[in-house]
Amino acid sequence: MRFLFLSGADKAPAWREAMLAKFPDASFDIWPDEVTDKADYDYAIVWRPPVGELKTFPNLKAILSLGAGVDGILVDTDLPTQVPIVRLVDRCLTEGMSEYVLYWTIHYHRKMDVYANWTREGIWKQLRQIDTRDRKVGFLGLGELGSDAAKKVAALGFDVAGWSRSEKHIDGVTSYYGDDGLTPFLNRSEILIVLLPLTESTTGIINAETLAALPEDACVINCARGAHVVDEDLLAALDSGHIRSATLDVFHTEPLPSDHPYWTHPKVVVSPHMASLTVPSSAADWMEQNINLIEAGEAPLNTVDLKRGY
Ligand code: NAP
Ligand code: GLV
Repeated sequence: MRFLFLSGADKAPAWREAMLAKFPDASFDIWPDEVTDKADYDYAIVWRPPVGELKTFPNLKAILSLGAGVDGILVDTDLPTQVPIVRLVDRCLTEGMSEYVLYWTIHYHRKMDVYANWTREGIWKQLRQIDTRDRKVGFLGLGELGSDAAKKVAALGFDVAGWSRSEKHIDGVTSYYGDDGLTPFLNRSEILIVLLPLTESTTGIINAETLAALPEDACVINCARGAHVVDEDLLAALDSGHIRSATLDVFHTEPLPSDHPYWTHPKVVVSPHMASLTVPSSAADWMEQNINLIEAGEAPLNTVDLKRGY
């Protein structure tokens, strides 16, 4: 078995170790330097591969994504046909994202953003404490990541809802779905968490109109993709005071350019696309499970639906 690794070379050693621990007889070649005969490769393990490159490997059995989001693969409109694309679903990735969401949800619920500013100004003042059960948290996206985080936030007592394409039945989480569900969902979300895939229909979903639909003083946490947000609209909503604060982990351009207004905005926290990072030793379990299914002639799990775009 032969693996093609098409991602940042810095990540290759850990992935080589993790995949060869699962498949000791396989070879693991890093693109482009170690690639020999392109017809020899069975599985491409990829993160944002160069457009047009995957098609030049004629015998791939699957494209295994190193991330949950596959927008960086689907930008390639010339992907090999009939080769399944497998999204990453991994315990560590899911738990890491839930930790990030819990951290910032509690931060905004307890208004730690306000207290942090007051610390610098030497202000000693207590704000009214809001009953957790009255705090309305909303998840845009209730998939692998959104549903786990929503359940954990609900377990703390928050009033949680989520918006997805299809209706969900998750204990403690009110389901809003479809186009008609979006506005009522936004109207009640005081802390909004974005965990949607980036597709044609979700690009720019955080814009002047949707931000205006959030309650006054709402906070936004974007841990999905930068292009979900129309930056000028978010900055305007922060400056007007309608949106209290935002934590942004993902950006249109990454790394975030040094002159971007987010870096210095007093109501914005920037994190460097680390809400949840892939841990190769754990994610290799998922790769192994899917490769074994394919080698046994069965369909892999969590393949991308090209029509939906996720
Ligand atoms: P997922 O399992 O595919 O879930 C996607 C969710 O979004 C589903 O609930 C889906 O609804 C909903 N959705 C998609 N399109 C929609 C639309 N047009 N209208 C309403 N709902 C829609 O994805 P995931 O594994 O949870 O990952 C979500 C995203 O997180 C990834 O795509 C990636 O961009 C991002 N991510 C970021 C980091 C980071 O470190 N910042 C790490 C990992 C992932 P249905 O359930 O009805 O299909
Ligand atoms: C990270 O952004 C991922 O999609 O897994």
